[in-house]
Amino acid sequence: MFCVIITKKEEEGFSMLNKLKKYLVKPEIYAPSTNSFWNNPHISENMLDAHLEPESEAASRNHEFINKSVEWIATISPPVKYADLLDLGCGPGLYTKRFHKAGYTVTGIDFSKRSIEYAEVEAVLNNADIAYIYRSYLNIDYKEQFDVITLIYCDYAALSTCDRKTLLDKIYKALKPGGMFIFDVFTHKMKLPESQTWYYSQDSGFFCDKPHLCLNSVYQYPDERVELRQTIVITEYDVVTYNIWDCFYNKDELINEVLPIGFSSYKIYSDVAGKAYSDDSETLCGVFVK
Ligand SMILES: C[S@@+](CC[C@H](N)C(=O)[O-])C[C@H]1O[C@@H](n2cnc3c(N)ncnc32)[C@H](O)[C@@H]1O
Repeated sequence: MFCVIITKKEEEGFSMLNKLKKYLVKPEIYAPSTNSFWNNPHISENMLDAHLEPESEAASRNHEFINKSVEWIATISPPVKYADLLDLGCGPGLYTKRFHKAGYTVTGIDFSKRSIEYAEVEAVLNNADIAYIYRSYLNIDYKEQFDVITLIYCDYAALSTCDRKTLLDKIYKALKPGGMFIFDVFTHKMKLPESQTWYYSQDSGFFCDKPHLCLNSVYQYPDERVELRQTIVITEYDVVTYNIWDCFYNKDELINEVLPIGFSSYKIYSDVAGKAYSDDSETLCGVFVK
């Protein structure tokens, strides 16, 4: 009689492979991460460092650009006329504190606890009257309260098609008549080829503070103009995934998605600091007026 003996070690190997198997296929479009990216204690600490590093573009744009951006927004929507500003996904307040200095009455919303706490402490230290709210912007419910709503660093297109529509409706409702929605997205130029790479980190790395293996994949969903950048993080005891989605736009695609919500007019720029529109740009900025 033929008999197979499976050792304890082999059994563990099989179950690890089984655990992994379901992650090693192309995810369905807009499949969520298994873990929160923005509220993971380790990742959010690294992200906060990146936000605060003046030259870094990893979490926010570099601070010189942010200065230019706020200056430009205050030119197209001067605070004397457009007093009430809501910054969605405000992070640790790099824009909000500058908007406040420029003369706006500012509300910032973010669902990263670490970022909002940092912003709140900074506001107190600087005696800046800025309202910070720890909440998902998908759950806002304002009615004609704001003159300007911003959503900066291409976060709009990280949402699913359904969530983008939900958010646009809420933004439209939250704007006063004549109010402006100002936001940016990446263009098709930023699309990556599909790929699979991996690295092992013996110590703490961006995703994890323990030894871990990262499996990185880029998946394309061409019909929906959507890309997934996925990282699977494998530690001794766990497998977690972070799915970062993006949808790419050209000028017409952006206008056709946003204008039908009800906006009366719009302008498209190459970036959120007012650079003139060009076909070659890596980003687009939409300014839609209610
Ligand atoms: C790339 S960062 C940009 C932060 C800021 N706009 C800037 O440019 O410095 C994206 C921010 O959006 C926040 N965010 C993402 N999805 C969110 C949601 N559904 N509700 C609230 N905040 C969200 C994240 O926590 C993070 O702080």
